[in-house]
Amino acid sequence: MSDIDRARLADLMRSETEHFVATHPKSAAHAERTSSLLAGVPMPWMRRWPGPFPIVLDQAHGARFTDIDGHEYVDLCLGDTGSMTGHAHAEIGAAITEQMSRGSTVMLPTQDAAWVAQEMSRRFGLPKWQFTLSATDANRFALRFARAITGKPKIIVHDWCYHGTVDETLVIQLGDRTISRPGAIGPQVNPALTTHVVQFNDLEDLERAAAHGDVACMLIEPALTNIGIVLPAPGYLQGVREITRKHGIILVIDETHTICAGPGGCTKEWGLEPDMFVIGKTIGGGTPVGAYGMSAAVAAQVEALHDDDGIDVSGVGGTLAGNALSMAAVRATLTHALLPEQFVHTKQMATAWTDGVKHAYERRGLAWSVQQLGSRAEYWFCPPPRTGADAAAAVDHDLDAFMHLWAINRGILLTPFHNMALFSPFHVVQDVERHTVQFDEALTALTGR
Ligand SMILES: Cc1ncc(COP(=O)(O)O)c(C=O)c1O
Repeated sequence: MSDIDRARLADLMRSETEHFVATHPKSAAHAERTSSLLAGVPMPWMRRWPGPFPIVLDQAHGARFTDIDGHEYVDLCLGDTGSMTGHAHAEIGAAITEQMSRGSTVMLPTQDAAWVAQEMSRRFGLPKWQFTLSATDANRFALRFARAITGKPKIIVHDWCYHGTVDETLVIQLGDRTISRPGAIGPQVNPALTTHVVQFNDLEDLERAAAHGDVACMLIEPALTNIGIVLPAPGYLQGVREITRKHGIILVIDETHTICAGPGGCTKEWGLEPDMFVIGKTIGGGTPVGAYGMSAAVAAQVEALHDDDGIDVSGVGGTLAGNALSMAAVRATLTHALLPEQFVHTKQMATAWTDGVKHAYERRGLAWSVQQLGSRAEYWFCPPPRTGADAAAAVDHDLDAFMHLWAINRGILLTPFHNMALFSPFHVVQDVERHTVQFDEALTALTGR
């Protein structure tokens, strides 16, 4: 637990909550009208925002959004990566509107799909691609293909990973056992039957799991981003590649969040060699889409499965997946966004944000830390964690909620569930300074110094 006075924190949280309620009367009134929404929200995780009710969105443009009470916010959450291109991007919006007026879903391929797959190959290096409506689905399909072509039943994931709502991955390690992660609802089977869990940055652990001989694939983020940012130690990812190759395990790299490292994700930045690759969220420029790519060797085996007349009911699919509208959105996104020159700017923003945060906690002698991965950065109330388990043990829900609510009351939205900021080409240095000032003031309020 962090070195913060808990009574002081509770007092501050009370006064910030009062301020939030007083300044968001329309969002409060809206919360009274949500009785037809399960738990009052369209998705379960929307319950996790700090404060007694969520802010209700009016509109979002570029790096900012307004709520129905008329407050404007600097958006450092960007739809948890879904809007990393910036909100309401003009060219992407135009392409979507144009495609919508020409038909959005017809069950036939469009020319955009071939263009998009070629561009994905150029960026990420894998030669063959298909599309889904979410990164979750792309991961699920990657696991299915991996099991199909290896004939092995199990997967390996990192402790405290997150790869979407994929049943096999909603797990943690308990001693040498795999159990459901806290909060996972209604697992369909005991996850020990499907999954081995290994610690991030621990090659011995991986070697042990791989040696069972029952593993189809290992699904990883190259840096953990969903329990906060945990960066790979030097040599770790090379070790993962060597061990997975040695045991004939397909390595699936999920870059849904780590695309923040650059236009080709960590795979290009760090010269990684996945057998399969998954990405979602950001490539749709704010519309729902996911993708999975694969090496020529994997593709040759997977393409053979496509000759079966049962491929439409194979468990890989989705009627709207690969639809004309998605493909037009991805084409426009990869044409106008996530470009090298834009990453130069967004990385500079993230570095300035990191410096501001670091200066504030160091000035007060707090043993906190901050990690940057490209255009994304995150602070911790402890030294940098090395594994997902370390990271999970360091989570401080009360302090997290306070930092988020304090920021919201000062016009800044951080990514929920941890203390992460993501930058788009539309953020400007004044946005970073605004965060730095309010962060510094929060630490004054918390520490009295
Ligand atoms: C690394 C990673 N993979 C997959 C997903 C799932 O994405 P979606 O919820 O869009 O299916 C997420 C979501 O946060 C993610 O962080």
